[in-house]
Parts: sequence; C-alpha cells; structure tokens
Amino acid sequence: MLITLPHILSPDELHRVRPLLDKAPWQDGRDSAGPQARMVKNNEQLPHDCEAAQTIRHLVTAGLNRSATFFSAALPLRVFTPRVNRYGGQSNSYGAHIDNAVRLKGGEAGSPAYVRTDVSCTVFLNDPDDYDGGELTVHDTYGTRGVKLPAGHAVLYPGTSLHQVTPVTRGHRLACFFWVQSMVRSDEQRRLLYELDMNLLSLRERHGETAETTALTGTYHNLLRMWAET
Ligand code: NI
Repeated sequence: MLITLPHILSPDELHRVRPLLDKAPWQDGRDSAGPQARMVKNNEQLPHDCEAAQTIRHLVTAGLNRSATFFSAALPLRVFTPRVNRYGGQSNSYGAHIDNAVRLKGGEAGSPAYVRTDVSCTVFLNDPDDYDGGELTVHDTYGTRGVKLPAGHAVLYPGTSLHQVTPVTRGHRLACFFWVQSMVRSDEQRRLLYELDMNLLSLRERHGETAETTALTGTYHNLLRMWAET
C-alpha cells in the first residue's frame, strides 16, 4: 500500500530549512547501509547531530503528529530517527534493494532501541522541478509505482518492498526518510484497518453518527485490539 501524506511540512518550514541544507556537512550515504544495499547505494546524507538534520527531524516529527492519515496508515509504535539525504552530481542514485529488517535506533539516552522496518516514509524537501530523475520506484504486490512529490509531501510504502531511487541527471533531490515499526506488523492487516478507518470517516462526514458507524467503529477497534502489539 502506497499512501501520500500531503503538507507534512509547510512552505514556511521548507523555506527555513533550505539555507541549512545548503551549508550542511554532507557525508557518504554508504556509511549507514547494510552489505547488499552498500553495493547499490550512491547518495549523501547528513549526520544525525548537525543543525540541519536536527531542525528537519523536529519539523517532520511535528508534521507527522498533526497528520491523522499518518497515524491511521502507519499505526506507529516506534519511529527510527529520521535521516536527511541528497542525490545529485556523482552521488545520484540508489539501486534496487530491500531495507534491513531491523535497525538500531541510536543516539538516545538509555538502552538502544531496535526498530523493525515495517513501513518506510520519504518526505520530499524540494520540488520535482528542481531536478530530473530521482524517482522513488516501489515494487510491491500491486506492481511497480514511481513516486515524485511536491516539496513538503510524504509517501508511505511497505518496508517489505523492493525499491530504488533512479539517477538524478540534473540538480539535486533532497529528502528526509525514516522507518516505522508498526503496532500491526502485517501490511495486509494495516491496509484493511486503514480502509475501514478512512471509509468510516467519510461515512460520518456524509451522514453524521449513525448506529452503523458506531457498530463499525467497534469492529475497527476490535480488529485493532486483535492485531496490535504494543
Ligand atoms: Ni531503502
């Protein structure tokens, strides 16, 4: 299931982070890739502790917290510390790969936390007009889809999918990405819950609260109770 989350960052917020990105200490993206991904990964990323990464992380987290769609689609239990990456010049692509199933979420106080990568999220930090290529291509059970969204918009896709970023041939593609360990591990079950939740929302908008929406809301929560691990 691929889901677009519009306006995770506002134009004002994007305007604020742009100068930080221009002077940020970009590093070789291979440093954080597993052995298979390392062979096909060719981009740059920011260290977690630099000003640009910290500011973007803070804004993206706040944007996600405002998004009811993000909550309903991802049912987040743990979120991996968002990373910021750049594609362009000599470091312009990320070949087909599947992300490591478990990532260590470092840098926080206390014991290290592992995040199972059930859901992947990319937040686009600049507009498609700024660059050529740089399409996120996701191969899932419903076929192959290419994604290139306006600045500030995000896409959620299953962590289980083979995916790539096609070569950027002009300009730079800037994005923030992270993984979510979901309360519901199965993509199929998450999809059913999401569809039920979204349809309930529009039923309520159209007809108000009815005996049927109340009953179906109960069904939603009972399914979530059956499938969620917290
Ligand atoms: Ni990946």
